[in-house]
Amino acid sequence: MSRFPADRILAQGANRICVRDPDSDAHCLKYELAPESRTRVGLRQGLRRWIARRVPALGENRTELRAWHWLRARTGHTIDRFVASCDGLVGTPQGIALRCILVRDAAGAPARSLHAHLFESTPYRPDQLCAAVDAFEAWLLQHGIPLFDLNSGNFVVVDDPGEACGVRLVCVDVKSILDGREILPVSRWVPSLRARKVQRRAERLRIRIRERLASTPG
Ligand SMILES: Nc1ncnc2c1ncn2[C@@H]1O[C@H](COP(=O)(O)OP(=O)(O)O)[C@@H](O)[C@H]1O
Ligand SMILES: [Mg+2]
Repeated sequence: MSRFPADRILAQGANRICVRDPDSDAHCLKYELAPESRTRVGLRQGLRRWIARRVPALGENRTELRAWHWLRARTGHTIDRFVASCDGLVGTPQGIALRCILVRDAAGAPARSLHAHLFESTPYRPDQLCAAVDAFEAWLLQHGIPLFDLNSGNFVVVDDPGEACGVRLVCVDVKSILDGREILPVSRWVPSLRARKVQRRAERLRIRIRERLASTPG
């Protein structure tokens, strides 16, 4: 059973559960899941999780907080359009959590993930969502950011009349900047490899969006 009442839970990812912050409507709290509640992963990621349980500094929340500070120093105020702010680690009755700005949609409800837009329902056309991926990709390339984990669960979707496509993606999970899968992370260090990898991952996400929404009516 979850340690949180159902009405506090916003979403659950592979590693963490995201819940409302009882002290602030503007924030959410992310808690690392116990080993038995996580999705199964391969040997290498399993080993990383095992190490992270023994070295708290390598846990997802601390890794994401470090990645977010690095990113803010690198990109300045433009980060606020594209990445949900991390506030810091807080001690709570349920354990240590990462406190973040809760991204909300135009109606004020917690923004839904791109995954939910693809697999549940969406008011957007695939070309609008693909254009939002283009904008995010352009920002990564402009600042040379090695963010490669561009899966639909790591973005939430917000209306944005300021964008030509009317919609913007906000990344809610930047830990992969410091928590890559490569043993020797050359694609982080070499600018041309980094750009190519970002472009490949962005293209893969656009293909997913088109494939998924092509088969859904509306
Ligand atoms: N700042 C946020 N604002 C709104 N929703 C969020 C926020 N952070 C996380 N979420 C929700 O929680 C889900 C899982 O978050 P994520 O950080 O990707 O966890 P994991 O580490 O398990 O991948 C996201 O898909 C999203 O729906
Ligand atoms: Mg995630």
